[in-house]
Amino acid sequence: MYYPQEILEEVRLRNDIVDVIKGYIPLNKKGSSYFGLCPFHNEYTPSFSVSADKQLYYCFGCGAAGNVISFIMQMENCDFVEAVQRLADRAGIELPKAEYSPENAKKEKLKERLYELHSTAGLFYYQKLHSPDGLKALEYVNKRKISIPVQRKFGIGFAPNGITELFEHLKGKGFSLEEILESGLVLENKSKNGYHDRFYNRLMFPIFDIQGRCIGFGGRIMESGEPKYLNSPETIIFNKKRNLYGLNLARAERKKEIIIVEGYMDMITIYQAGFRNVAASLGTAFTAEHAALLRKFVTDVILVFDSDSAGEKAALRAIPILTDAGLRVKVLQVPDGKDPDEYIKHNGSLEFGKLLINAVSYMDFQIKCARRKYSMNDSEQKMLFTREAAELISNLSSPIERDMYIKKIADDTGISKHAVEEEIFNTDKKRDFEFKKQAEKQKIRKYDFKSNQKIQDINSTKGIMQAQSSIISICSSKKEICRRIMEILNPDEFKDETRSELLKYVYDCCLSGKDVLPADAVNIFENEESQKTAASVFCSKIDYNDSDELEKALNEQIKLIKRANLDYIASNAKTIEEIQKALEMKKSLESFELQL
Ligand code: UTP
Ligand code: MN
Repeated sequence: MYYPQEILEEVRLRNDIVDVIKGYIPLNKKGSSYFGLCPFHNEYTPSFSVSADKQLYYCFGCGAAGNVISFIMQMENCDFVEAVQRLADRAGIELPKAEYSPENAKKEKLKERLYELHSTAGLFYYQKLHSPDGLKALEYVNKRKISIPVQRKFGIGFAPNGITELFEHLKGKGFSLEEILESGLVLENKSKNGYHDRFYNRLMFPIFDIQGRCIGFGGRIMESGEPKYLNSPETIIFNKKRNLYGLNLARAERKKEIIIVEGYMDMITIYQAGFRNVAASLGTAFTAEHAALLRKFVTDVILVFDSDSAGEKAALRAIPILTDAGLRVKVLQVPDGKDPDEYIKHNGSLEFGKLLINAVSYMDFQIKCARRKYSMNDSEQKMLFTREAAELISNLSSPIERDMYIKKIADDTGISKHAVEEEIFNTDKKRDFEFKKQAEKQKIRKYDFKSNQKIQDINSTKGIMQAQSSIISICSSKKEICRRIMEILNPDEFKDETRSELLKYVYDCCLSGKDVLPADAVNIFENEESQKTAASVFCSKIDYNDSDELEKALNEQIKLIKRANLDYIASNAKTIEEIQKALEMKKSLESFELQL
């Protein structure tokens, strides 16, 4: 734990969850809860609920859940410590210095050193570009028409020809071999007889994170050769799925719209042309994490891609990822087979600005791409196109938008509007079914993975999880019952780690005579996944009509859990005796009965 539990409670108590969330999204009161549009997925009817009593939020649509600290973690894309700091600031609470476990302290220290190391390396490359060694590289920069202020802003540099120059420089600055290797900027020779720099004789583009810290580099070869761009590997500070090149600068523009391109040079040239709300995906596929990151700053994305088929494919892949995150998306294909950098250099920024204004909505773009594959003179092809278009349109939830596109397709194909609608209706139904099937599967997969358990019966797994949640929830609200259950159910019998921890926590509270505050229970976890599980355990509503019903349910749940646990023990047993013992216990379980 990074902070003492009392401090976390204080931070939480002084930041009412309803107030905090209202600062981000509008909420309406309904009964004892508040509802709004979920900020974590795209929706048109509110399924995001905030409970003032429990101080928890829970989305019935996407399952996002947690307390006020997890909300800030999710919303601001920050870690636990940073979220606590923000909330403490908000409430004017002075925090003690965070206490890390020895292992975490070591990791945090290494991270700090790697930030320093990267900034040292960045400065080294920058100075090399402006030294006699860098003359040819500087010529190249000028040939690519990057202005001096922009060169500086982006910290463009040059990795010299010698293969250990950076290595020597970093050692001279006091970085240890371990730190240097961890950065990925220096590698061990294949023959293991020494070390060499990753980058040499390349033009260097530092990559910054959203907070402006240098976390990696991209290096461009200046003659012909492969690879054209070499990038830093993933490290503990550089996660490619979560960073976009230039986003730190784009964010500072505070615009609601962002331009996304593929390349380093495209990003830089567009920025230089005066459209400063731009970032690049750096040749890696666009991920849901990227989209979630953007969602925090902007509402609209303009995807700008090369007009080649690779660019088109990349755009088609990125679209559903962005729209799923709730972003409005437009697409701009740069004409004449150029990339944005070349286009601006040929035609000027004004012309590029016109292209931006004329960017088409993603749906138009998707339909256009589909349309090209079919000939409208052939009825079979017409039908196939309509089917594909229906599939696309069924992704839209706004009835107005749907209607618009339905009309377009009907006009284009000559098929009646009614028939197109019918096709979409069928697609909707199919999709609902697939979604439910998938959701079911995913839940199960998660559990299999965590418990290393082979589970044949899908429903029984789900049942076990629900049973565990229900017991935690009951124990947390009824001390009497908790005391009884404590005698017969050990937290180790919960094979789900998060739920097992939670039960332990609830037992501890009961033993020390404290009430369980669900929002504090969420705090015993630092990772988002467990916080979400914890919050959803308390948010799942269980109503029993009377104590008989409760007793019956509890008995079933306890048996279910114990049985599964004994099966687990039996299937992992090393000796025959162990198996026998487990089976005997399973048998005696049949006569078990808890009476309240
Ligand atoms: P491109 O090949 O389109 O290059 O790759 P570019 O951006 O037009 O670069 P210039 O104008 O020739 O300098 C697009 C992006 O894909 C990534 C880079 O981020 C590049 O900017 N890429 C490309 C790599 O990471 N490695 C490569 O070898 C090539
Ligand atoms: Mn280019």
